[in-house]
Amino acid sequence: MMNPICRQLLILICLSVGSYAAALDEPVGAVDFYQLYDNPEAHIGLKDRLTTADRIAAHGYPAEHHNVVTDDGYILGIFRIPYSHKLQNQNEKRPIVLLQHGLTSCSDAWILCGPNDGLPYLLADAGYDVWMGNGRGTTYSKNHTKLSTKHPYFWQFTWHEIGIYDIAAMIDYALSTDNGRGQEAIHYVGHSQGTTVFFALMSSRPEYNGKIKTAHMFAPVAIMTHLTNKLVRALGPYLGHQNIYAKLFGSQEFLPHNDFLMALLFNLCEPDFLLRPLCVNAIESIYTAGRVNMTAMPDGLATHPAGCSTDQMLHYLQEQQSGYFRQFDYGPKKNLKIYGSEEPPQYPVELITSDVHLWYSDNDALVAVEDVEALSERLPNKFMHRMLDPMWDHGDFALNNEVRVYINEPVISIMQQYEKEKENSAT
Ligand SMILES: *[C@@H]1O[C@H](CO)[C@@H](O)[C@H](O)[C@H]1NC(C)=O
Ligand SMILES: *[C@@H]1O[C@H](CO)[C@@H](O)[C@H](O)[C@H]1NC(C)=O
Repeated sequence: MMNPICRQLLILICLSVGSYAAALDEPVGAVDFYQLYDNPEAHIGLKDRLTTADRIAAHGYPAEHHNVVTDDGYILGIFRIPYSHKLQNQNEKRPIVLLQHGLTSCSDAWILCGPNDGLPYLLADAGYDVWMGNGRGTTYSKNHTKLSTKHPYFWQFTWHEIGIYDIAAMIDYALSTDNGRGQEAIHYVGHSQGTTVFFALMSSRPEYNGKIKTAHMFAPVAIMTHLTNKLVRALGPYLGHQNIYAKLFGSQEFLPHNDFLMALLFNLCEPDFLLRPLCVNAIESIYTAGRVNMTAMPDGLATHPAGCSTDQMLHYLQEQQSGYFRQFDYGPKKNLKIYGSEEPPQYPVELITSDVHLWYSDNDALVAVEDVEALSERLPNKFMHRMLDPMWDHGDFALNNEVRVYINEPVISIMQQYEKEKENSAT
């Protein structure tokens, strides 16, 4: 049995080489990867990491760290800006909003752009009680009432469980606090996987739609048929089906934030390093150069990747292969036992009755316009927001220099409109 770190390194290197090769569209020659093992010294110290709450508090905002226990025993670390120190509105009822991050990301992603541009800060200053979730298996949510993270059972989950258990628990928790009492519903914002988990929860446990005021899906991922990302398309045929590759790769921790991995990444990104093209390609495949906030990058690298279970990636690859938005495929025999059918059931997205705002774009290699539109046809209450900028891509929703104007302010104004109408109908 290969030691897990080595196995992950190999996977990471295969992924990097894969995307490098895809970018060059030609085979890569032999590279001496053992150099990486010989050069494990980090160029940037990563000990004594700051939490999301520390980073928020450093800007003068009130910040809280809460532990939420899910129905199946996972202990999630979630963060909160309960009110704005500028408004001093701690004694007023504040509408609640929950922000949920994407795959291998975490709550820190929301605050990278700082108080002037970042969504959590702008929401707090608009009078909201702001919560930032962390899915099971990420940096802040690696704990369980019974299981150790070293136990393989801990890692047996996909984004299905993050949706139906974690998001449900976070919503109920926020509604059970001092400020939440007497409130029945929240606003929700998700980016990428943060949208998938919303769709999974709201279709599987439709009673939760009653707890949603407005929902905002940035780069919504459900149907994946037309996705253009080369790496996903290359891996799909191998890992998107139940087979020996998927068995070897499945149910383990992937890309946790640890010093060794970061040392490797930082080494890769050194300007004079032989393998720097891998690093540049990895970053450029997410962000189109010149459009994103580079000042936010050091904090981005210090907090990402934040880890996930490999089953989350397998589940996405299965969707890309099958063309369906449906539950995890365990293979016909186990499917029959779990679902009562040889094929996994599709999510009944027709049951998502809450107001769903879909924010999507033409240049997103992970989310195709056709797929968002196909999904939207099945959603009863949807609002389409196709980005006007033809270059807008997957990462722009988090880090574009204009994210305040094109995303954050419009989203907040939709929420404000909802709150105003509710107030009017109450009086
Ligand atoms: C970019 O990020 C930095 C660091 O968080 C922040 O101070 C700045 O306001 C951000 N700028 C934009 C345009 O987002
Ligand atoms: C995990 O949760 C338990 C409570 O069930 C707590 O005592 C322990 O400190 C937590 N561990 C970590 C690493 O947060």
